[in-house]
Amino acid sequence: MKVLICTDTNAAIDRAAHLMTDRLRDKPKSVFGLATGSTMEPLYDRWIAIAGDEGLSFARARTFNLDEYVGLPASHPQSYHHYMERFFFDRIDIDRANAHLPNGAAPDPAAEAKAYEGRIANAGGIDLQLIGIGRNGHIGFNEPTSSLTSRTRLKTLTRSTLEANAAHFPPGETPPRYVITMGIGTILESRACLLLATGAGKAEAVERMIEGAVSAACPASALQFHPSATIVLDPEAASCLKLRDYYEQVHPAGRETTVEGARGA
Ligand code: GLP
Repeated sequence: MKVLICTDTNAAIDRAAHLMTDRLRDKPKSVFGLATGSTMEPLYDRWIAIAGDEGLSFARARTFNLDEYVGLPASHPQSYHHYMERFFFDRIDIDRANAHLPNGAAPDPAAEAKAYEGRIANAGGIDLQLIGIGRNGHIGFNEPTSSLTSRTRLKTLTRSTLEANAAHFPPGETPPRYVITMGIGTILESRACLLLATGAGKAEAVERMIEGAVSAACPASALQFHPSATIVLDPEAASCLKLRDYYEQVHPAGRETTVEGARGA
């Protein structure tokens, strides 16, 4: 795992946005795995701005989101379809036919989950998967005890995730209990993973992900198996890490270091 601890929250968002942009520049036809949640809102803003400054186009990019609520149609204001339109797709030149999310309104969600796996495979797999983390260590909607080899499927949300995500719903409305999510095995097949976490509320989950035992009790810990996983953090999200000094020594202020750079230092 590459652990990049940035100087503040804006720097972490900027760092992650530059990593996404680098991939788009290097391969305009990239297949991006995308994520939702409050953490990602400023990330999309920044990515759009940087790509715009560089004159990069998303017209050839393809995207697959991690998850969607079961029972919410794409038009529902709290659906992840709607979130993606609002924060990203409406603001870039992506071909909508290439922007995929699981269909939460499908009559047979289990069949839809299976078909979604097929669509990812047909696209040639995911080049770079963007990931957030839940306070209980979930990635996508893979709640604790999810199989570390799981595929896209139907899941039931924990009470703590329902409570956390209720903040995005109008007062009195609760999020659906069921979701379709890429599996942990699906996520681990991405050629690269980029997890962004900001704020003290994520610090314990981040510590378990990076320094804890690999365990279904903390689904994000499965990223320890990934050969190319980059974790971008602000100081608050990094505040429980025991080896923080080491990560900061290897990547000062979250920068890349090379052997050459280290020699010169
Ligand atoms: C939801 C999403 C996750 C996301 C998590 C954290 O549960 N399914 O993909 O990582 O929320 O969201 P936030 O960034 O709002 O804390």
